[in-house]
Amino acid sequence: MAIEVIPTGAALGAEIRGLDMSKPLTGAEFEAVQQAWYDHIVLLFRGQKITDDDLIAFSKHFGELDIAPASATDMAGSQAKSRPEIWIISNVVENGKPIGALGDKEAEWHTDMSYVAEPPMASVLHSREIPSTGGDTSFANMYKALEALPADLRAAVEGRMCNHDASTTSVGELRAGADAVLDVRAAPGAKHPIVVTHPVTGGKALYLGRRLNAYIEGYSVAESEALLDRLWAHCAKPEFSWAHKWKVGDLLIWDNRCAIHRRDGFDGSERRVMHRTQIKGRAPR
Ligand code: SIN
Repeated sequence: MAIEVIPTGAALGAEIRGLDMSKPLTGAEFEAVQQAWYDHIVLLFRGQKITDDDLIAFSKHFGELDIAPASATDMAGSQAKSRPEIWIISNVVENGKPIGALGDKEAEWHTDMSYVAEPPMASVLHSREIPSTGGDTSFANMYKALEALPADLRAAVEGRMCNHDASTTSVGELRAGADAVLDVRAAPGAKHPIVVTHPVTGGKALYLGRRLNAYIEGYSVAESEALLDRLWAHCAKPEFSWAHKWKVGDLLIWDNRCAIHRRDGFDGSERRVMHRTQIKGRAPR
């Protein structure tokens, strides 16, 4: 069956039909998926009944995998130890320990692991269990956000580097072993250009990481805060985004080089279990 690409009609995202990830992909199938991914930034595959090994095998078509990020939780899952490429995102607690990261809280807009020098170019997320409401994941197109950026704001940030704080997770919790940031100029993390060029498509995009504890080099803290507030308010406009309501078996792959994402909170008495891989990237430039 040929692969079908159905755009969401929003600023980014497309559903791919006709692919079963429990079976190996042919070269032609992978090429079609990869082209759709460059075109649409986020791809959705419904109804994937797959194991972690299938998730890893699919992800590896795109490149070598990164190990999962350090999270705020001390994960109990033995699986987390046996498959270090899989990051479990969950609010489920077993034997008194969380089986995954991020709990049930809202996760703010962010780019995965942008606080490292060479952040993953892509993330792949597979849903195992989902709550009856909430926990939707939204994405924003950073090519479009840059294109529409007011000229004065673009002039103020183009060519500048921003520090991407490593101390907190996207739900605002301190990572294990991290100290609270008291001065954003001294926050741990990695510095990246604010305007980057996608290494494959050649498109220019905003690369912001996350708002909390960010700092634009070369400005006073007050100036940097004001610019960051304007940048983030701009990127969060609905015209750049698309929200995904999960079903069990959905798999999303997104391009961290030109998209940010966030997640709605949900009722902690319900279970949400997601398995994620991260595909290695290079330093943004
Ligand atoms: C993430 O990768 O930031 C988590 C997204 C989600 O839990 O939906």
